[in-house]
Amino acid sequence: MTAPSRQIEPLDKRHDRSAFACGSEALDRYLKQQARQDADKHVAAPFVLVYPPATRVLGYYTLSASTVCVDEIPETLTRKLPRYPLLPVTLLGRLAVDQSTKGQGAGTFLLMDALYRALSSATQIAAMAVVVEAKDDQAAAFYRHFNFLPLQPDPHRLFLPMNTIATLFEG
Ligand SMILES: CC(C)(COP(=O)(O)OP(=O)(O)OC[C@H]1O[C@@H](n2cnc3c(N)ncnc32)[C@H](O)[C@@H]1OP(=O)(O)O)[C@@H](O)C(=O)NCCC(=O)NCCS
Repeated sequence: MTAPSRQIEPLDKRHDRSAFACGSEALDRYLKQQARQDADKHVAAPFVLVYPPATRVLGYYTLSASTVCVDEIPETLTRKLPRYPLLPVTLLGRLAVDQSTKGQGAGTFLLMDALYRALSSATQIAAMAVVVEAKDDQAAAFYRHFNFLPLQPDPHRLFLPMNTIATLFEG
């Protein structure tokens, strides 16, 4: 028998979020109480990890359009950019995995899906990086593991240039 394959889908009312527990009450509450409203209002686009035909949510992330001040980006990286005061980015606002699934690659799967989606969207609506808001030092370490760089002055805000993301999906 083959194992059911995992899939990432836009959150909708079919998805069962009731048992989701990632270890952060705020991230659990967001998924259960706020994510659908944010989607309806186009404030954030939530995507969920499921193993169809099961509808139980085992992970999620959100994407939104955002900007960063040019001063937040290290000067070595902005030298070749136009001196616009604000630069367009895609914000990966939240990313979380159910505790039953931790340490099995689900976080990587969600992150890669988010980066690919951001890269694909950037051909239509420009974004020069993906920015993440890590909730604490541990979350920041997760993103640094994938070569995200800290923004200035808040090391819990990190970014990955879109050109770097493009190289991940080349070939
Ligand atoms: C952080 C989180 C998403 C990781 O999910 P996961 O499914 O356990 O991660 P994976 O199994 O895909 O691990 C991928 C890699 O990241 C590493 N990793 C995982 N958590 C890490 C951390 N906190 N710091 C550094 N590296 C970490 C793993 O060792 C693994 O490395 P490898 O590929 O070299 O073996 C998950 O622990 C979680 O939901 N935490 C609570 C919410 C949270 O902190 N979200 C972060 C954004 S606010």
